[in-house]
Amino acid sequence: MVESEIEVLRLGHRVGRDPRITTHLALVSRAMGVKKFTLAGDKDEKLFDNIDSVNERFGQGIVCRHESSPMKMLREIATSNEKHKPLIIHLTMYGEPFKETIEDIPKEQPIVVVVGGAKVPAELFTLSDYNIAVGNQPHSEVAALALFLDCWTGGKAFEQEYEGAQLIINPSKTGKDVREV
Ligand SMILES: C[S@@+](CC[C@H](N)C(=O)[O-])C[C@H]1O[C@@H](n2cnc3c(N)ncnc32)[C@H](O)[C@@H]1O
Repeated sequence: MVESEIEVLRLGHRVGRDPRITTHLALVSRAMGVKKFTLAGDKDEKLFDNIDSVNERFGQGIVCRHESSPMKMLREIATSNEKHKPLIIHLTMYGEPFKETIEDIPKEQPIVVVVGGAKVPAELFTLSDYNIAVGNQPHSEVAALALFLDCWTGGKAFEQEYEGAQLIINPSKTGKDVREV
């Protein structure tokens, strides 16, 4: 199991078009062990409220924040001399195959996984330590993120503990089995 901290950076969020897919990105991140979700593009308090509500009911899992200068943030990471600076991993259909490439990435350092929006700045390809493709066809950022996280964690991404949950789901063959704490 990879223990290094994972941050997901979602670029180019548009409140008019993206709330559902960006919420799914945050929920997949939370469910698969990501600790920080950073939103770039439009500010979206409603989206953050939804994730806070999931954290309250199902346990504390992820912290969300807005970043108004994501490329500056990535430039600072890329040029930092800190030993334990995060590696920048950009998910893009133009990148290298994820399963093979993940094998080569050091697992001790934190990572920032960058997921694009409608248009991705070309500079991102050079700032990133790795440009990784989940297949070389266009599909969904949610699917790309989930498959990446599953592979990165060696299939253990869902083995998480959530503190302070009000609702705990007991896996069931027959229906909803939810305990209220
Ligand atoms: C719907 S795509 C839009 C891509 C955009 N047209 C561009 O200029 O790259 C949004 C994001 O989904 C992710 N994505 C889509 N297909 C992918 C793939 N095959 N592998 C990795 N990531 C993918 C990427 O992070 C991408 O930036």
